[in-house]
Amino acid sequence: MPRLSPRLIRHAHNANPLLKLLLPVCRDLESARNELRWLQDHAVGLAARSRNAPQTWQTRLQVMVRQRATGKPLQYILGTEYFGDLEIVCRPGVLIPRQDTAASVAHLAHLLQSNDCLPNRLRVLDLCTGSGCIPLLLEHLFSQSGDPPDLQLLGVDVSKRCLDLAEENKARCQARHAEFAQADVLATGDVSPQGQPLPALLKSRASPNWDILISNPPYISSHDFRKTTARSVRKFEPKLALVPPAGVSEIPDDGDLFYPRLLDVADHVHSKVVLFEVADLSQALRVASMAKKKGSWDGVEIWKDEPGAKDDSMVQLEQVVSGLKVLGRGNGRSVVCWRDQGARWLGRT
Ligand SMILES: C[S@@+](CC[C@H](N)C(=O)[O-])C[C@H]1O[C@@H](n2cnc3c(N)ncnc32)[C@H](O)[C@@H]1O
Repeated sequence: MPRLSPRLIRHAHNANPLLKLLLPVCRDLESARNELRWLQDHAVGLAARSRNAPQTWQTRLQVMVRQRATGKPLQYILGTEYFGDLEIVCRPGVLIPRQDTAASVAHLAHLLQSNDCLPNRLRVLDLCTGSGCIPLLLEHLFSQSGDPPDLQLLGVDVSKRCLDLAEENKARCQARHAEFAQADVLATGDVSPQGQPLPALLKSRASPNWDILISNPPYISSHDFRKTTARSVRKFEPKLALVPPAGVSEIPDDGDLFYPRLLDVADHVHSKVVLFEVADLSQALRVASMAKKKGSWDGVEIWKDEPGAKDDSMVQLEQVVSGLKVLGRGNGRSVVCWRDQGARWLGRT
């Protein structure tokens, strides 16, 4: 990372001493100015809403700027982040939703809404739901289409803190079709030290079948977490959300731990479509190969960060890597599999 020049630091300080504190995390003056403006708006708003509290907005702003200067993500300080059009509440202990995830979910919703063969009732299971952003965005996107199916959305997470926040986000988004429940996705038997095993939760539901299975599981390998994950992510976001537990399996890439389990669950609940987020193209190719080896899918493809991106002639960007179709622009972001009616739901017939 290039060093900041003393001239730039002096310039920031002269403009506003708080800008100088923000400069090292923001890296350029324009970003620091933007963040200072957002933080100031937030501090003024908080002070106005709590008139009886002793702190002025100026004191609040100073505290927030100092927190930000330690690398604390802006979303944890401001308390929200956009996920598509939804403003999702963010809190330490729960992963901040990412725009790349929203882009995959929005593309899936777009494909599903582009055909008239969806069943009247569509059941979607989101494993590792975190803030609940994925089911909430799906409900929001479907609510905007003319004749939406009767959606049943279930978000599952092992963390009580995540589920509390997901419920809060549900109320904030006025969602009616999303539910959230606690379970350990990795647990296959009758017991789990982390709470209810997933099979017990699924057994307790009215129907054993889930048409679509989505998951953005912890997928960073312990090596990449140490060597390449950004310091602010390592320091402030929950490791439970990022890195699969160690010593649970012998698979060579420990970041891949959740995917065989997710593919087993997809078979168990007879999903017709799955969408799994991954870290990059290498992991996408490994996960796609796991799916192909199962032999239970009619089609497997990889989506990049912007899966619907088109070229200058408005033709969908598409390439073939190791025999697999890779769609869109950016890095490998998700693996999509389908079977039976799922092919028609995605327009893949
Ligand atoms: C990468 S985050 C994804 C959160 C959210 N879906 C999103 O896209 O922002 C992974 C989530 O998996 C949850 N998780 C970790 N281990 C789990 C397990 N064994 N069973 C269920 N959820 C788990 C974490 O609590 C975390 O919320």
